[in-house]
Amino acid sequence: MNIRFFSITALLLGALALMAFMIPQEKKKGGPWEIPQEYVSMENPYKDDASLEKYGKQEYMKHCRSCHGNIGEGDGPKARNLEFDPGNLSDAAWQDKVTDGELYYMSIIGRDEMPNYESKITDEETRWALVNYLRTLKK
Ligand code: HEC
Repeated sequence: MNIRFFSITALLLGALALMAFMIPQEKKKGGPWEIPQEYVSMENPYKDDASLEKYGKQEYMKHCRSCHGNIGEGDGPKARNLEFDPGNLSDAAWQDKVTDGELYYMSIIGRDEMPNYESKITDEETRWALVNYLRTLKK
């Protein structure tokens, strides 16, 4: 194998690798969540408590931003490596459909690639602060 053939091959392979990296991979959609009724109708004891917002934001930046992105659009640095689409938490139509209790369930209990935070975020007030902060992402 001569050196020119080798370098052209290497160049082509490099270009291919770059293209594969640049073309966004189609992600699997998780489909509708099956959320137990006790969560769906769960009351948010901190509803409209704006004082929790800053706190909720800190938690979001610490635990959630890496996948869900700065403003919830699902474009965090770790999102690239996910098999499932993390969705768009800022989507108004979606926000209007889900109850606070459902947000709580999805955020704290999770499923599959959406991590479970029961042992990482143990404080109820912190959990609801997070839910309240998710509400502020709505566009
Ligand atoms: C490791 C990446 C990752 C992290 C970190 C993460 N999530 Fe997720 N999240 C996902 C994925 C992937 C899904 C979609 C799961 C599915 O559909 O099965 C998801 C789904 C969700 C959903 C439902 C979205 C929808 O459109 O149905 C909510 C709400 C959510 N996450 C909130 C959070 C919150 C709050 C945090 C931080 C406490 C967080 N996530 C941290 C990956 C992540």
